[in-house]
Amino acid sequence: MADTPTSAPTSTAPELANETARRRTFAIIAHPDAGKTTLTEKLLLYAGMLRTAGMVKNRKTGKMATSDWMTMEQERGISITASVMQFEYKDHIINVLDTPGHQDFSEDTYRTLTAADSAIMVLDASKGVETQTRKLFAACKLRGVPVLTFINKCDLPGRDPLELMTEVEDVLGIQASAMNWPVGMGRDFVGVVDRASADLIVFKKTAAGGSQRAAMERVALSSDQAQTLIGEELAKKMRDDLEMLEIAGNPYSHEAFRRGQITPVFFGSALTNFGIEPFYDAFVDMAPAPSPRQATKLDGTAVTINPITSPFSAYAFKIQANMDPRHRDSLVFVRICSGRFERDIVVKHYHRGAFVREVRLSRPQTLVARDRTTLDVAYPGDVVGLVNAGFAIGDTILAQGGPAKDGFEHAPLPQFPPEVFARVMPSDLTKRKSFDKGIVQLASEGAVQVLRSWDNPMSDPFIAAVGRLQFEVLKYRLKDEYSVEAEINDLPYQCSSWLVGEVDQFKPTHGSYLAKDHRGKPVVLFPSEWDKSYCAKQNPQHQFIEIL
Ligand code: G4P
Repeated sequence: MADTPTSAPTSTAPELANETARRRTFAIIAHPDAGKTTLTEKLLLYAGMLRTAGMVKNRKTGKMATSDWMTMEQERGISITASVMQFEYKDHIINVLDTPGHQDFSEDTYRTLTAADSAIMVLDASKGVETQTRKLFAACKLRGVPVLTFINKCDLPGRDPLELMTEVEDVLGIQASAMNWPVGMGRDFVGVVDRASADLIVFKKTAAGGSQRAAMERVALSSDQAQTLIGEELAKKMRDDLEMLEIAGNPYSHEAFRRGQITPVFFGSALTNFGIEPFYDAFVDMAPAPSPRQATKLDGTAVTINPITSPFSAYAFKIQANMDPRHRDSLVFVRICSGRFERDIVVKHYHRGAFVREVRLSRPQTLVARDRTTLDVAYPGDVVGLVNAGFAIGDTILAQGGPAKDGFEHAPLPQFPPEVFARVMPSDLTKRKSFDKGIVQLASEGAVQVLRSWDNPMSDPFIAAVGRLQFEVLKYRLKDEYSVEAEINDLPYQCSSWLVGEVDQFKPTHGSYLAKDHRGKPVVLFPSEWDKSYCAKQNPQHQFIEIL
């Protein structure tokens, strides 16, 4: 059985327990255009962080106020790098981990999900489950992250709610349980029924539209008033739908939700604010606070890290360099898993199973829009940015007394299989030294993965990433930070697998290519999924592993 390291009880213990219990650290996962930005903005609006909505993303320029540090992001008007926002809502501390919303996403997106205790999946009611949502959902499912579903844009003509629920179940392989049900769709969308209380919640448009909170009225569904509010026709449809749900729908189980086996579904419209408040309230109520995580001691034994009773620990899940041209520095984002963080805390630093050093954390930052704020105290669930701290992705920091060998490491971050590949070389061959240095550094930050030919490791490297945008980021940064123009030539591969088994016995199939990853492990690249499964059939004695 895994044991649990404990820190000495201190007078801050009740405060730590209370602060941990009120934290909700989550990511919003969505296909581009489903409404993630709009929903984020409304979460800020309802938390009193914005006076009027419409400030998070300047619609004219498309700029995100939260993450427009890199010039390239500004030029393109998209958020490439993930960041974090913290605010308070009804006595809860909300930490929203921003995952890039562009079509191209990166490993950062996936890694950010490891720092979340839950996720909100936003679906467009007219489109249902789209590709990017599917990939992000799969990453949550892999780790058993509880996911709440918000079916957005109910104010537009959309698909039938029951059909959307079925699609969630069929495509994502999770049970869906409707927590509320829309009254009317499209122009008729006037409210939702809260199934637990059997209350009808009717929303009212205000002159300010979605830029202000929507007024709402709550009445018992069985009351005469309910029918008067929504009219006979909608009331009848409502009753029929609810009856059908009672018979055919999945009952909600909180335990199953916490285990990631059922997703509670809510309907609404982020643009008009209809349904936002009931969803928000249910979210803070249902979504988990930071809970125990598994870690490994240096001798390989498992250990359970309790957020409150274990000593301060955190792990680095993301590195962002040169976010602000005024500070030429890099920021490591660490997610606190246990204990209380204080400025100037002295921690032990562990990297890939080994103790590295002891270090004082003297320049912690939180990020709110573009301003950095110096942070004094933080709790489990919080994300802290550390300036020029010399940590690599996946490293653990730990404030535990005793010898360094008694420390532990948080579970290593999964590496996700890349989907785009290219060969990269410096345009000017005299710059090879800076080029190599840049590639090593950027690969260590996780900006791209670097692969070498299995047979000829000295040849020009291949770069591989989860999304193509990462190549452009690499090119931009090689030029900006290392003064190297790089040539990037796309390669005709679309997927890859780690190869497990005797490499000598591997029989390559037409179009496949054997490479070596940064840890020296064999990776096979394929032109298509079809080629991959064909190759797997031809090599039954080998395993082709998706995610390590
Ligand atoms: P994303 O971050 O997931 O990519 O989506 P975003 O919130 O930017 O929303 C994409 C588009 O969908 C935006 O329109 C936004 O206004 C619209 N939208 C979001 N939620 C709703 C909703 O509940 N109802 C309706 N009707 N529209 C919604 P846009 O044309 O790109 O921008 P804008 O010109 O409207 O600002």
